[in-house]
Parts: sequence; C-alpha cells; structure tokens
Amino acid sequence: FQSSPIKQDLTGQHWVITAGPTMEAIDPVRYISNHSSGKMGYALAKAAIARGAKVTLISGPVQIPSPIGANVIAVKSADEMLTACEQSMSTQADVFIGAAAVADFKMKAASDQKMKKQSDTNEVTLTLVKNPDIIATLAQQYCAKTMVGFAAETQNVIEYAKSKLERKGLDIIVANDVSRTDIGFNQDENQVTVITKDNTWSPDKAAKSELANQLVEFIQQHIKSAP
Ligand code: CTP
Ligand code: CA
Repeated sequence: FQSSPIKQDLTGQHWVITAGPTMEAIDPVRYISNHSSGKMGYALAKAAIARGAKVTLISGPVQIPSPIGANVIAVKSADEMLTACEQSMSTQADVFIGAAAVADFKMKAASDQKMKKQSDTNEVTLTLVKNPDIIATLAQQYCAKTMVGFAAETQNVIEYAKSKLERKGLDIIVANDVSRTDIGFNQDENQVTVITKDNTWSPDKAAKSELANQLVEFIQQHIKSAP
C-alpha cells in the first residue's frame, strides 16, 4: 500500500500563520495569558507546508515542537506578534491565518520591578488597556491578501463570528465553540463552522491535523487573486 503523494498546489505561495496564546507581562515574574495550546495553528502550518507553501509561523509560547520546514518566529506579547506579522506580511505573502488567541488586554504600564503585596489591604487593582487587533490591522494594511480569522465563542457562535468577519474585514472566519470541553482549547479534536461572506460550511468533528488539511483546501479555493 502506498498513499498517494500530497498535491503540491501551494508551491510558490507564502502563508503567514499566528498560533498559540500571547503573554502580557504584569511585572518581571507574572503575566496575563490564556489556555490556547497552539495545536490548531501548528496543524495548519504543517498542512500548508505539506502542500508546498512557504510558511512563516508566528507563535506565542507553546509546548509543541516547531513544524519541520516552517520559519518560526517566537513572540510573547500581542505587540511583539503584531510587529512580527507586519514584517512578515511586508515581504510577499498570499494568505494570513490568525489562529492565535491574542490576549485582549495588556497592562497599561507593566511594573519594572516585582510587585510587592501591600500589608494594609486585601485588594489590588490592575489597570488594563486593549491590545491592538492584529488581524484587523493587517486586513486594513494588506487588503489584497486573503485574510482568515478564528472566532472563539461560548454562545451565539455563528452570529458573533459573522459580525467579526465583517468588523475585521476578513475573507474567511473559522468559528469555534469554546464552551465545549471535548473540542477546541487544548484538545486534539475540533469542530468548527467556516464562514465566508456568502457561505457557511460545517465539516465533521475531526482531529486538528485532519481538520487542518480540510481548512487549507478550503482556503486554497478561496484565495483572492492579485488585483
Ligand atoms: N485577534 C487579533 N488581535 C486581537 C484579538 C483577536 O488578531 N487583539 C484575532 C484572533 O487571532 C482571531 C480573531 O481575531 O483570528 C478573533 O479573535 P476573538 O478573540 O474571537 O475576537 P475578539 O475580536 O478579540 O472579540 P472577543 O474576544 O471580545 O469575542
Ligand atoms: Ca479576544
């Protein structure tokens, strides 16, 4: 038995993919982050490489090995991720996939020194400010590229995802129900609904590696040609 060779239909293409959480410093020893494992973004990178694409994988801190053949740029904060994305997109890029779970907020002013407990109070107040919206920023700057986002939702999944597609100026959004514990965050399987301006498509629940192959195929079919 010999499996058929994977078609090399992405040869010559450059895909920029973000993955994992971002980590926002509170002080030199503490941070704000989330439970993203990076598995979905890494699986997408592998699937795109297998079909011949050049892949730049901009990754927050994760516990998984770099996909062979990927140009991995390791970042921590959302600000660093945005800078790395802008640099990667400014060279030739055809597709951007925002699979990272970007922290929505960062410290207004992270402390240079370790914050000490105050003995006279049981409360502490941290002032947070919004992080830049990486994918929305890139969609504005690089409107000729094919922009693919993810939407992590716990309710009204399709409706909220559709509004993100429009608000952020994306071509495709992959909606994810993160209230389910059997799929999504830190799981090996995922079930998603893929939404474009005109269509929705719900592939069966599958291993992230298999789903990644299906998503790469779908994205490939929806690549915007150069204006
Ligand atoms: N995203 C981003 N920059 C941010 C926040 C999100 O690029 N600061 C991207 C994610 O990588 C994902 C998409 O936007 O592709 C949607 O992320 P999500 O967290 O679902 O949406 P938000 O706009 O942050 O809205 P909310 O968390 O309030 O639902
Ligand atoms: Ca968010």
